[in-house]
Amino acid sequence: MRIVEQAESLAPFHRCALVPTMGALHAGHASLIARAASGGRPVVVSLFVNPTQFAQGEDFSKYPRTLDADLEVCQAAGASAIFIPSVQIMYPRGLSAANAEASALQLPRVATQPKLEDARRPTHFAGVCQVVAKLFDMCQPAAAYFGEKDFQQLRVIQEMVRREGPRWKDLVVHACPTIRESDGLAMSSRNRYLQPNQRHNALALSRALTAAQAGARAGMDIAAAQDEMQQVLARHELVVEYAVIRSPDTLLPLDTFQFAWKLGARALIAARLHGVRLIDNADCGQA
Ligand code: PAF
Repeated sequence: MRIVEQAESLAPFHRCALVPTMGALHAGHASLIARAASGGRPVVVSLFVNPTQFAQGEDFSKYPRTLDADLEVCQAAGASAIFIPSVQIMYPRGLSAANAEASALQLPRVATQPKLEDARRPTHFAGVCQVVAKLFDMCQPAAAYFGEKDFQQLRVIQEMVRREGPRWKDLVVHACPTIRESDGLAMSSRNRYLQPNQRHNALALSRALTAAQAGARAGMDIAAAQDEMQQVLARHELVVEYAVIRSPDTLLPLDTFQFAWKLGARALIAARLHGVRLIDNADCGQA
């Protein structure tokens, strides 16, 4: 496994399968790497905690950095190279210029209209699009792998790639299912912020999603299914930011419920548990 720090050294890996990450790797990332490796192309994993996608007061400085363990995960899951760029390599004109560049980007609608993550973290998707576009330019991958756990991020990246057309040739974005602990908690690098006694309450997110899926199967209307989710969350000390059922494409509200369940619907939740922000989502379609 090669460790690469300069963009020029990525030349032998052009047309690779790319797995962009911020490190602090867990079994969810390992599954993305293994899935990428199963496609037969060399797999490049990027490890870069991208400052431009964190707003002031978010967890950029305390975001877990676990390089040695990350290298082991990459090796075991079948990566060919790890790209670990410095801030200077990614943003040679400095961070102020990078933040200005991010805020000038034209983002896809799904990054600004749903009022989900975009409402709570207004500068986040500009930073994500900026860094992912740079990684695509540097690695020129044939395929890129993203988890459904960050569902709005996945949709934003899919739309960015569609809109940019020939810029990244025929790059295919693969959406990979969320990997869960045996009790249902979606794997996340931020789960390590949870105290052992808070874990029980964190499970309310996956339970609320299961309630929404049961509602869909029972033919419940969307407003009632959203209420079900709220009730599960309210019983577990969670401060709910949103718990909604939306179009899986636009992430906008659905109005005709029977039609919507059939065509596919996505339940999405964000909630805070003693200051730790948790997100999760699930497919509720009946198609
Ligand atoms: O999902 C992440 O870890 C990050 O947002 C990404 C896609 C690697 C961009 O920094």
